[in-house]
Amino acid sequence: MKKIHNIRTNYQFGSLSKSDLAYSPIKQFKDWFSQIINLMTEPTAMTLSTYSKRYGVDSRIVLLKEIKQDGFIFYTNYNSVKGKQISSNNNVSLSFFWPELQRQVRVNGLAFKLSDAYSTRYFKSRPKKSQISACISQQSEVVLSRNLMEKQFNLMCQQFKNKSIPKPDYWGGYKVKPSCIEFWQGRKDRLHDRFIYEKKDKKWVINRLYP
Ligand SMILES: Cc1cc2nc3c(=O)[nH]c(=O)nc-3n(C[C@H](O)[C@H](O)[C@H](O)COP(=O)(O)O)c2cc1C
Repeated sequence: MKKIHNIRTNYQFGSLSKSDLAYSPIKQFKDWFSQIINLMTEPTAMTLSTYSKRYGVDSRIVLLKEIKQDGFIFYTNYNSVKGKQISSNNNVSLSFFWPELQRQVRVNGLAFKLSDAYSTRYFKSRPKKSQISACISQQSEVVLSRNLMEKQFNLMCQQFKNKSIPKPDYWGGYKVKPSCIEFWQGRKDRLHDRFIYEKKDKKWVINRLYP
């Protein structure tokens, strides 16, 4: 096997300068997102980091489901480990890595629960079997076997064969309202381009950072 330290990519697809940037980081994110959307299998996958009393920081992948003017939306189980962590400290970070365009986006912000009505609208738009999985999954809890999980799933499929599935109270979305967003474009010789948008007095201030 190749030595890990010999695996190297030279980044040279693009560049980023201040004059390329949109006035708002959400607009800039949408521009980059529209460029990656057809180039990757999971462009919406993002690392969500939360504060864990036990471990300090805890990270996992979730899927971005909507970009609003004031934030990034994802859905989960509010009783999961991440849900409990967010309820005691809603400072979170999101990070996207889009290798096809050699780009990274990092977001720091506060996570807020969406209204139940808003989450219900999205829940109803999901395939029925995904709705059922959300209902039977006590996300982050120990489950005795795969078999048990499948039994619960199949039972619910039968029970709700001709009925719509009500969204469980414990399932819904969060909006991450950003206070800081960084855009990173890989460049030759590790001399990458980095720009950070930070909210100061309700205005976005943009600075270039050393890579
Ligand atoms: C590609 C991918 C997409 C995922 N999307 C979600 C998601 O949108 N929501 C979610 O709750 N978990 C999602 N997960 C599962 C989480 O990474 C994680 O395992 C789960 O949410 C439990 O995390 P927790 O115990 O820290 O709460 C996804 C995992 C992967 C690999």
